[in-house]
Amino acid sequence: MYTYKVVALAAMAAFAEQAVAFNSHRHLHEHAKKAEPTTREVKSLTKRGVAYNDAGLANTFGAACEKCSWAYNWASLPGNLDQKFEYMPTLWGDIDIHTSHWDSDVEQCLASGTKVLFSFNEPDHASQSNMSPEQAAAAHNRWMNKYAGRAQVCAPSVTNSGNPGEGLDWLRNFHNACNNIEGGCAIDCCNIHWYSEAAYSDTLFTHIDGAKEICGGKPIYLTEFAPLGSDDDKNGFMSNIISRLDGVDGLAGYSYFMVAEGNLMSSANDLSSYGQLYATV
Ligand code: BGC
Repeated sequence: MYTYKVVALAAMAAFAEQAVAFNSHRHLHEHAKKAEPTTREVKSLTKRGVAYNDAGLANTFGAACEKCSWAYNWASLPGNLDQKFEYMPTLWGDIDIHTSHWDSDVEQCLASGTKVLFSFNEPDHASQSNMSPEQAAAAHNRWMNKYAGRAQVCAPSVTNSGNPGEGLDWLRNFHNACNNIEGGCAIDCCNIHWYSEAAYSDTLFTHIDGAKEICGGKPIYLTEFAPLGSDDDKNGFMSNIISRLDGVDGLAGYSYFMVAEGNLMSSANDLSSYGQLYATV
């Protein structure tokens, strides 16, 4: 878990930049929406998705990845993301910088074809949205329930920590907390993350199975995952694990962490060796 936290903390730093970038995109996006035709192309969704902060990189990656059909960026607007992707917005946490524009962003996304909404990011992790199951249940009820029936609403994402009160344990407690509040929580799908050494890749599949059980067989989204290790380990993981994920029943989507330089991209224009595999296997 230590290594995982380092990954997550580095990611938090990128988030501040991302928030600024999205504010400046919002205005542009509103204009784009007005020009939209009333009938939309219905996209056929594959499982494979793209997790990104920089929409330009996501588009470059998407052009090389025929099987990639959806994308998310931990934010609630896509930026200049290609139409090829179905975009899935996230309400990262129950704090004003996210909630203040959530409803207007979701309306915009729904009008552009969004069908899945993600709730809080890793509330079971102190350096992420850091919420108790009870707090998250109340906030999910407030911000997510209203979209039930208009989109699939996922439960908050959780890590694969095995510590009591974290990971799937948190997710189970969240379901219990939801059962104890008036109106409950809209939950059409569950959302999980996974990081471990490549040698322990089998635990990815037990993690998915555990989530399926807690979520009563509802579809699972695996919105962050990556093996820890060398590029060779990552190449091996891509060659062996991605096709297995394609075959997992009840896994509705997965997005590797993540499309960025030094990760699935080796430069602004080039995919890394394991990026190339994620795009083509
Ligand atoms: C953070 C997001 C961030 C992403 C990629 C996640 O761990 O929670 O806010 O956008 O990493 O940098």
